[in-house]
Amino acid sequence: MPQPETHRFSTPLEITPEQVRELAILCRTLAHDAAQFIASHRPPRESVADTKSTPTDVVTQMDRDIEAQLRGRIVQLRPDDGLLGEEGSSKASTSGFTWVVDPIDGTVNYLYGLPGYSVSVAVVWGAPDPATWVQVAGAVVRVSDMATWWAGRGIGAFRGETVLAINNPVSLGACLTGTGFGYDARLRALQARVLLEVLPAVRDIRRVGSAAVDLCSLAEGSLDLYFERGLSPWDMAAGTLIAREAGALTIDHEGAPPSKTMTVAGPSGLVLELAEILRKTGAAADINDVR
Ligand code: IPD
Ligand code: CA
Repeated sequence: MPQPETHRFSTPLEITPEQVRELAILCRTLAHDAAQFIASHRPPRESVADTKSTPTDVVTQMDRDIEAQLRGRIVQLRPDDGLLGEEGSSKASTSGFTWVVDPIDGTVNYLYGLPGYSVSVAVVWGAPDPATWVQVAGAVVRVSDMATWWAGRGIGAFRGETVLAINNPVSLGACLTGTGFGYDARLRALQARVLLEVLPAVRDIRRVGSAAVDLCSLAEGSLDLYFERGLSPWDMAAGTLIAREAGALTIDHEGAPPSKTMTVAGPSGLVLELAEILRKTGAAADINDVR
């Protein structure tokens, strides 16, 4: 007798390492082709097509075109899988797998012609919700140099074919720490206050402008630690898997899975230390209550 969808989604993921690898390679191919298209079609001066949550939260025609291309290929290659994309794609899954895509992570960098933007493609098992999903495979490609990071659940994380492993700094004070800021001015004011406590405690702060690249930089050791409030599922779906497969702990500020409220990633002891500072500074406070 056919099982209702809810039953099927609650069943544990049964997948072989070979199948995980196949999905990871598909993520890599899709992200690579999208990145190549962006690299060869970016106009010399890009313009804003629209704004989303606030006037600083911009979208370009390229964001939309790339998401449409990814959607077309995923529907063709994996017709039973679901899809969630930053620019509005939403399709229910009948297979249990859902693709979570960010056509351009770091749209502001893309707009200004700065190098830190990427394409992020991931596939998860279950609902595309970071609280419950099982991340199966993911890939991030930074367009400026086509750096390609990818990972599969239980099979490791790679840049090209090189196996990735995070750094293991001796103390919080030795950590080059990546972060990012939201698009809401009230959230930014709170994030600035949190930085007053974090910045003196770490080696330095980097704000590259693509959460997906930050998480991959952590995975390959060009950052030691990362935290950010406000990430959406598409910002983190590939990146947190890549970081974890490279040895990182990825949690929110209270030890639950990363979420819109907070993402902290890095070596476990230092992540717990940073999470404590984030709790003490009220980094996850309701922005309506912040003065
Ligand atoms: C943004 C980037 C940025 C991060 C923001 C994200 P977008 O994604 O990842 O680094 O700080 O939180 O929203 O809007 O450029 O796709
Ligand atoms: Ca994004």
